[in-house]
Amino acid sequence: MLPKEISAKAPPVKIQGIKTKLVPYIARHIKWDGKGKWIEPFTGSGAVAFNIQPNKALLADTNVHLINLYSAIQSKRLTAGSLQDYLFKEGEKLRTIGEEHYYDIRKRFNDEGSPYDFIFLNRSCFNGVVRFNSKGKFNVPFCRKPDRFRPALVTKICNQVAWLGKVLHGKDWDFVCQPWEKTLAASEPSDFVYLDPPYVGRHTDYYNQWDEAAADNLAIKVRQLKCGFAYSMWRKNQYRENTHLDQHFADCKFIDIEHFYHVGSSEELRNAMVETLIISDENFIPDLGEDKKSSGDLQIALL
Ligand SMILES: C[S@@+](CC[C@H](N)C(=O)[O-])C[C@H]1O[C@@H](n2cnc3c(N)ncnc32)[C@H](O)[C@@H]1O
Repeated sequence: MLPKEISAKAPPVKIQGIKTKLVPYIARHIKWDGKGKWIEPFTGSGAVAFNIQPNKALLADTNVHLINLYSAIQSKRLTAGSLQDYLFKEGEKLRTIGEEHYYDIRKRFNDEGSPYDFIFLNRSCFNGVVRFNSKGKFNVPFCRKPDRFRPALVTKICNQVAWLGKVLHGKDWDFVCQPWEKTLAASEPSDFVYLDPPYVGRHTDYYNQWDEAAADNLAIKVRQLKCGFAYSMWRKNQYRENTHLDQHFADCKFIDIEHFYHVGSSEELRNAMVETLIISDENFIPDLGEDKKSSGDLQIALL
């Protein structure tokens, strides 16, 4: 069974489309006995699995840097203590040398791919955006705050890593870098799959190539799954509705969530958007006696 009430914690990496705020709704509306694996083909920051905390999990993503980081924390090659030493050292260099040091770390990361450097860049890049160019190189500029790694921030990041280290301890979880097709192919009837693919036409970078054809292909494969699923998807914005939903998921339960995007550089990305969580019929738990909820800047309605 999934935990009934979760006060979701933020994972150590921030990425576009992070679903920390959605976790309580996911947990509350999914019925699953937890006997199989919790599968995420699009793990991203890991916010969902890390808070749901199933016993067995297959967590995959094509972004090798995310997978490397979680594997490093799982194997204790990266701990809160080792990260603290690293961030104090590199943070002090950033403070004294300035942005040149950020670009040195960025070059080193693009040459060597260290998970320590990934966290450094993720937490000191402009607007907190994770973006890789067409050659798979991280290309986000500096946030222009040389004193970025003040003790309070270092402590906060290290606490997030310590929390994740504890969550991973003793769990039968596999982190794998692979495309979603391979991940879905590994599912069995007792599993549950949570899917959060990139949105068509948004956040496109090297690791987020996504178009209508990919979305259709995924939807078709999801409907062929032999296990339960939940699928995060955009439903509408002020300009249009996502017709893809009725085409593939008309018989499923939808939970709509209206919210404002805060991550992103343009006005367009900050617009209100209705997202939906689609849950396979047999796995859906309704909220009895309540048909509307709101939490902070989230609004949720059961349809
Ligand atoms: C919207 S994000 C997932 C966000 C995640 N649920 C969270 O809370 O952080 C989509 C993820 O899909 C990954 N991705 C993009 N294309 C993929 C593919 N073809 N196969 C597997 N993962 C892919 C991206 O690297 C990205 O991490």
